[in-house]
Order: sequence, then structure tokens, then C-alpha cells
Amino acid sequence: MAKPPTSAFVCQNCGAVYAKWAGRCEACGEWNTLVEEAVSAPPGALKAEKAGTKRGPKAEFIALDAETETPNRIVIGVDELDRVFGGGIVPASATLIGGDPGIGKSTLLLQAAARLARNGVKTVYVSGEEAAAQIQERAKRLKVANSPVQLATETDLRKILAALKEASPDFVVIDSIQTLWSDSLEAAPGSVAQVRACAQELVRWAKKSGAALVLVGHVTKEGTIAGPRVVEHLVDAVFYFEGERGHQFRILRAVKNRFGPTDEIGIFEMHQYGLAPAKEPSALFLSAEDEGSGGTAVFAAMEGSRPVLAEVQALVAKSPFGTPRRSVIGFDSGRLAMLMAVLETRCGVNFAGMDVYLSVAGGYRINEPAGDLAAAAALLSSLAGNPVPKRSVFFGEIALSGAVRPAPRMDQRLKEAARLGFRTAFVPEGVPSAESGLTVTPIARLIALVDLLAPDAPDA
Ligand code: TYD
Ligand code: MG
Repeated sequence: MAKPPTSAFVCQNCGAVYAKWAGRCEACGEWNTLVEEAVSAPPGALKAEKAGTKRGPKAEFIALDAETETPNRIVIGVDELDRVFGGGIVPASATLIGGDPGIGKSTLLLQAAARLARNGVKTVYVSGEEAAAQIQERAKRLKVANSPVQLATETDLRKILAALKEASPDFVVIDSIQTLWSDSLEAAPGSVAQVRACAQELVRWAKKSGAALVLVGHVTKEGTIAGPRVVEHLVDAVFYFEGERGHQFRILRAVKNRFGPTDEIGIFEMHQYGLAPAKEPSALFLSAEDEGSGGTAVFAAMEGSRPVLAEVQALVAKSPFGTPRRSVIGFDSGRLAMLMAVLETRCGVNFAGMDVYLSVAGGYRINEPAGDLAAAAALLSSLAGNPVPKRSVFFGEIALSGAVRPAPRMDQRLKEAARLGFRTAFVPEGVPSAESGLTVTPIARLIALVDLLAPDAPDA
């Protein structure tokens, strides 16, 4: 009988496993990502023919409405954080927090840990990245140095687990999962095999001991958590901490959450003394200058249950080059191409020979299709050199036919805009104009917006 293989080639990008080396991973298409790693059978693996035949303890079946214990959430006390977790952290759970280097993951988690520790939650912070002195320095800066967090700087999984078993904490931060290594594997720290094995062990420990575990994960250039796409499947929740380095606010966004909503975001500001919940989050992405010049329009957005107003800025100018440039920040470039195509074919607006730039203020990212109408308004306003009506907001999805489609939670968007002092709203048809106090102008088709903002735009 052939011996089972002792090594396999594992893609460091997506975790696909191959028997032979290849230059390109067939699963994800990345080049030069296959690395040889030792394989070991999982401990206590069942032999196929024996599985299920032995007598012994059995799995239990229960009814869907059977009484079970609901988890008692640990409330952190930082609203923006609790909101993303779904009302607090669930014991015996694992959460992965990813983000670019330097975005503030360690700061956020040290602040959370300090807060919990001060409230009497037994808290451990394990750093595999920084020396104790660095973390203490940060704690001083955050003014939390006197809170009873137990700190360890260690990368050896075996030692970490031994310490955790002894300390039996309620809340554990591992910063970061990529720095840990387990001596049961030969692969290098940071490789998919190591990251997966370490995460698996830690998650298993958390589920057994009832602790809430938070793993910090690094993000690749492409914006996914480095290597361990596999880790995303092991944990209960995956959050991304994002923001523009040049701006001071940061957004914590849930992309997976077994215990809460995935469309909630937490908005923070990075100050000299750490992260603070943003004061007026819905107005953060409006620029201060008065709208006098053309090319800006405010989008009334929703992030989960929270309304956010964001300014979309466009610049349409004659191109000095043969091939005009199209460039976006905070907006999907495919969506911009589509909007321009609809404006050209359905409304006769011509962008030929024009450079087109689209940017969202403050480093906010528009993910909603409802941002289309605001983007189109900014484009038209810049093209015509004609500012949009003062203190106005826009929302609505634009279909390929040029029709403007409704968006979810329209009345909430209008209410928030009114609260922030806006007076007019350009919206899809059928929006009840009543309570909000705004003057509501329905835009059924994109051509109506063109007639309003750029009546004599260059025709195709
Ligand atoms: P850090 O939490 O180390 O980021 P990460 O763990 O995601 O790599 O934060 C790094 C940045 O935050 C660093 O550039 C300095 C800045 N910062 C502040 O502006 N104020 C503060 O109080 C702290 C602690 C950091
Ligand atoms: Mg860090």
C-alpha cells in the first residue's frame, strides 16, 4: 500500500492544497504562492469504515424551540464597539479583526481590554508583535496603564495555551494570529498551515473555556485577511477596521457575525490619546466648505440602521491626453463607468475627450447602489459648471434604462438630512414627502436630473 504523503503544497493566498508544486494556483489564479508544508493527520481521525459503528456517546438531537441558554453578553461600554458586536461580546466566541497595518487595531483592542478589565472582566492581552515596553508605552498614552489587564508577549502557541488555561480569563486578545507558531507543525509562522492550526487551537480553547477570544489578522495588499481566508470560517465573527491613513476617523465594519447584524458599523476618531467614538458620525463625511462651486452633491446613505451623509465630488475637465482618465476614490470604478454610459446613451450627455474624477469626502466608501443619483448629480454639476441647489441631498439607484429606483429606508435618510440642516432632497418617485420637513423633488428618470442641472450639456 502506498504511504500517505507527508507534505503538500498549499497556496498561501487561498489555502488550496496540491500534491505537486505549480507556478500558479488554479483555485485563485495567484502566481508563485504554493509553498510546501508538512501534513499530519488530525488527531483521533476516524477510520472511515469504523465511523458510526462503535457504541459510545452519541450526538443529541433537540427541537428548534427547545429551551437553551442564551449567551450573556459582556458589554464593553464603548457604544460604537458594542453596536458592531451586536450589543456586546458573546462568551465562548471567536472574533477576527482585520485591517491595514497602522490603522489602529492594537489601539482599539488595548482600549477595549482596559475598559473590560476595569469593569472586573478578567482580561488577557497577548502580543506576538510588540515588546512589552511598547505596549506599556501605548497604555500610558491611552491613559489606561493602571487597568488590570494581564499582558504577555509570546508567540509560542503551546506556552500561550498553557498560560491561558492557568489564568482562565473571560476576554482574550491575540495580536496577531500571523505571529503565532505551533511546534506540532514544521511550516513557518505566518504560513497558512500555521495560522490555521493556531487559530483552530485557540478557538477550540475559547469554546471550551467560555472565554471571548479576539484575534487580530493582517490584511494583504488586496484587502483580504492575509493567508487565512481559512480563519474566517473558523471564527464566529469577522470585522474589518478601515479608514484612510490621512483622515482621523476609522470605521469598524462587520462582514460576518453569527451573533449580530452584519450591516452595522462603528465610527471612531483617532486622537492623540487613542480612539474615541465619533461625536456626530452622520455629518463626518461632509466637507466644511460652503457649496458654491459646481461638482459636489451630498448622498444620504445608510450604514445598517444608521444614516450617514457623504459628499460626492466630481471633476470633469477637458483631457490633455488622447485617452481620457477616469479615476475614483471611495466609489466603485465599474459603477462610474456604468453611470457615464447611462448618461451618454439615455440622456445624450457626452464625456468624450473629458477626464472624469470622482471622489468621496473624508475617505468614506460608498457601497450602496443608492449612491448613483448623487454621483450623477456631481458629474453633471461639474460638467455644466452649475452647482446643485443649496443644502440638498440625493439618493436613488440608477438602472441601465435610466430609471431611478427606490432605496431602502428612505424616510430615515430624509429625517437625518433634515436634522443636519438640509432643505431639499432629490429622490426616486413615490417617497412620502410628509414628515421630514424637506422639500422633496422626485426624479423618476435620469433625464430629469440632466434637465435640472445641465440643460445645455454638450450633446452626443
Ligand atoms: P496601531 O494600533 O499600532 O495600529 P495597528 O495595530 O493596526 O497596526 O496604531 C497605529 C497608529 O495609530 C500609529 O500610526 C499612531 C496612531 N496613534 C494615534 O494617533 N493616537 C494614539 O493614541 C495611538 C495609540 C496611536
Ligand atoms: Mg498592531
